[in-house]
Amino acid sequence: MKVLVTDPIADAGLAVLRDAGYEVETAYELEGEALLEAVSDANGLIVRSGTEVTETVLEAAEELAIVGRAGIGVDNIDIDAATDEGVIVANAPEGNVRAAAEHTVAMTFAAARSIPQAHVRLKDGEWAKSDYLGTELDDKTLGVVGLGRVGQEVAKKLDSMGMDIVAYDPYISEDRADRIGAELVEFEDCLEKADFVTVHTPLTPETEGLISDEELELLEGGYLINCARGGVVDEDALAAKVEDGTLEGAALDVFAEEPLPEDSPLLFVDDVIVTPHLGASTEAAQENVATQTAEQVVAAIEAEPVANA
Ligand code: NAD
Ligand code: MLT
Repeated sequence: MKVLVTDPIADAGLAVLRDAGYEVETAYELEGEALLEAVSDANGLIVRSGTEVTETVLEAAEELAIVGRAGIGVDNIDIDAATDEGVIVANAPEGNVRAAAEHTVAMTFAAARSIPQAHVRLKDGEWAKSDYLGTELDDKTLGVVGLGRVGQEVAKKLDSMGMDIVAYDPYISEDRADRIGAELVEFEDCLEKADFVTVHTPLTPETEGLISDEELELLEGGYLINCARGGVVDEDALAAKVEDGTLEGAALDVFAEEPLPEDSPLLFVDDVIVTPHLGASTEAAQENVATQTAEQVVAAIEAEPVANA
């Protein structure tokens, strides 16, 4: 049995596959024919967000039982095509939630205090103390768009820092929101009431472009944080709204085009801070998701029940 791993995962996950007696092929940044060739005799495929698992890839993978996503988002996998080909898709929905939430909180503070900008200038030999007058989070309102696992964790953490929490999520109950101290509101109210809006939805046809010009106008004077998925926030609109001063700033971990969104205007706006999709990049999170995903792949190949399929 062969398992192909096309995005780097923690060694603990590879060890689970080897202990099961499988051949493990790691081959990163494969494209086109090279990916089709590598997957053609694989019984399992493990990816993170770097590999596009398209219909063509799934058709070429004649022996494939499962695509394991070592993380949460499955927007890089053609689920319908996988279903047609009888291939299971399973993700690891919990292992990196804390890491993603902590990164979101870090990005929120970093944006509010212009930490990356001041850091770069000091490293360049400039003492730019008088150029930075930040915003405190205590007593401000956080708007959470998408109150799922990561959104709830961010809400809890920033609630404990003194923020008031409003949230927009059409799929969760008021009870659930109440339990974490968030007021469930309509989308427009969420943007209008918030000083900081943090996005935690999946990327779906419904959420693509959810936040654009009009929505950003409602957040006037505030900050937009997106550590969920590029594509949910319109990048041209966001760059323009920060540049013209409608928004104070923005912090982004994810982009419509990855890796390296070199055409994104966001990279060139000073009050926009960015990281290269680092939300889940902690040792603990990577070990969690790699191990869980490898266990799911073994289960599928051994025709046993698969969690999170
Ligand atoms: P989740 O499924 O637990 O939560 C998503 C929430 O979004 C759900 O409560 C759902 O009801 C809500 N939602 C769906 N459509 C919506 C809409 N139109 N408007 C408002 N809310 C809507 O997912 P999660 O584990 O919390 O992950 C959230 C996002 O973060 C995903 O996109 C995931 O891929 C991403 N993520 C990114 C990183 C990173 O490295 N930056 C790490 C982990 C997760
Ligand atoms: C996820 O959806 O889990 C994130 O994209 C994390 C990742 O795999 O980098």
